[in-house]
Amino acid sequence: MFTPASSSLTPDYPLLARQLQSILEDERDLTANAAQFSAFIYDTVSDLNWAGFYLTRPAKKAGSTEQELLVGPFQGKVACARIAFGKGVCGTSAAERRTVLVPDVHAFPGHIACDSASNSEIVMPVVKNDVLYGVFDIDSPSLDRFSEADREGLENLLAVFVAATDFS
Ligand code: SME
Repeated sequence: MFTPASSSLTPDYPLLARQLQSILEDERDLTANAAQFSAFIYDTVSDLNWAGFYLTRPAKKAGSTEQELLVGPFQGKVACARIAFGKGVCGTSAAERRTVLVPDVHAFPGHIACDSASNSEIVMPVVKNDVLYGVFDIDSPSLDRFSEADREGLENLLAVFVAATDFS
């Protein structure tokens, strides 16, 4: 029996990486590249309802010396502005500096429901030279939308963005 090598939801990630490289090659500005990256992911990866950045910022609470996540360039519906490190999927990814893939957000303790349409998500830390600049969050209305092939492909696309961008 013929078994397809990948699901029809899995785009051609190596091709997307080459396209992204050429989109970002003449620009290193963080806001511009982050906006372009969000739009590129939202447009080329199917079955999404939100894709965007939460960036590391000093916590707003008076007297706090901690950091938190503040929403950055994104595509999709209006979202929660600030997320504490360790809270929800984004805060977990930031605190632990690792990709968090959640097949069913309703089963994830502490999930922050910004858009009730979201059913699964993947959040990847944005790290350059050992500094955490934030996370990139991708949400889908489908349960179990993201495979291991998506994780690998999306991490590679994020690495293209990080290499093409100046963060300070
Ligand atoms: N789902 C995220 C919150 C951000 S929104 O989905 C855009 C979380 O639990 O971290």
